Amino acid sequence: MIVAGIMSGTSADGINIALVRVTHARTHRKLNFEVLGRAEYSYPPAVRRSVLSAMNSTKASVADLARLNFLLAELYADALLATQRRFRVKAELVGCHGQTLYHQGERAPFLGRKLAVTWQTGDGSVLAARVRIPVVSDFRPADMAARGKGAPLVPFLDFLLYRDPLVGRIAQNIGGIANLTAIPAGAAANRVLAFDIGPGNMVIDAVTQRLFNRPFDRDGRIAASGAVIEGVIRDLLRASFFRRKPPKTAGREEFGHDFTQEFIQRCGRVDKRDIVATATALTAKAIADALRRFVLHRNHRYLDYIVSGGGANNAALMAMLANELRPLGLQIRSSDEFGMPSEAKEAAAFALLAYQTWHRLPSNIPSATGAKKPAILGKISYA
Ligand SMILES: Nc1ncnc2c1ncn2[C@@H]1O[C@H](COP(=O)(O)OP(=O)(O)O)[C@@H](O)[C@H]1O
Ligand SMILES: [Mg+2]
Repeated sequence: MIVAGIMSGTSADGINIALVRVTHARTHRKLNFEVLGRAEYSYPPAVRRSVLSAMNSTKASVADLARLNFLLAELYADALLATQRRFRVKAELVGCHGQTLYHQGERAPFLGRKLAVTWQTGDGSVLAARVRIPVVSDFRPADMAARGKGAPLVPFLDFLLYRDPLVGRIAQNIGGIANLTAIPAGAAANRVLAFDIGPGNMVIDAVTQRLFNRPFDRDGRIAASGAVIEGVIRDLLRASFFRRKPPKTAGREEFGHDFTQEFIQRCGRVDKRDIVATATALTAKAIADALRRFVLHRNHRYLDYIVSGGGANNAALMAMLANELRPLGLQIRSSDEFGMPSEAKEAAAFALLAYQTWHRLPSNIPSATGAKKPAILGKISYA
């Protein structure tokens, strides 16, 4: 079966599409898959602004949110149809993550109940009608209904891609948020550890936008020309989010507008380039810190550290990360080496999750999300 995955992450940079051929041996449960094509489409600037303001606002207009829900579905459809034409491949099913506008993985009191909540927009019915094949969307609520944090869901793919009888591997995605999946050598799926570490590109993007009026620090050039303010990072890494034990999830709720504002203030009156360098070092050091605190102290040995996501293109960030990881004995590799194009990985993951749902099979990894049981994820819209 050919399944399309559509992803738009918390960076709100745009849409990633992966066209994946999925096969399933009937005798045993093993899934095989191959990426047939991938493409990225940036959101038009006005759409990006609207998505970002919907995420950060405490008073977004309900009418605009409803419009955005339908508009994003149209944009997803255009992106998928263009990708299918480009690769001359026609998908039979779609897995669409949608655009997260709000995610609160921890339960908190609300009107007399304690709730964990999440909301992804980009309407499945509209998308299914435009692309004329069934769509699975809205993956996270089923995991949360099973008392999970609704994230991360990509470990389902990480486990299939990277498990190895002899080598322990860590998959590191650096999107808006940095999150990792640790797969001990020879481990079963229920031994996988996965969690959100903290900011990936989110704070780097925000300070670059604020101070240099550019959406991101291309190739890390600004960071490479600045000096890191170590004291700021040391203070920030003491904050409760970084110390909290997994499972845990993060988003703009933790590392969005308010965090960035405070971050810039903490840096004080310094060269603007130093602030971008410090935001970049925060990502690298938060990752190393999380590895030491939560991953490497366990009785497992890890060798490969496999990086994916847009942050892999930031040379300054990758150099800082290499510096941090050297003493930890980890070898940095790219997901491309494993046949998975770095930028397509998350989209491909949602193609596989959709495939599972279509076959009434669960796809959350309870040890990663904290769910009480396996859950069949998502809602199906028929064309
Ligand atoms: N050439 C590049 N140089 C530096 N950063 C880059 C580059 N390409 C992409 N990025 C970063 O990657 C981000 C997008 O990464 P992505 O994996 O799509 O994240 P998300 O899943 O949150 O959308 C951009 O916002 C930008 O910060
Ligand atoms: Mg993206």
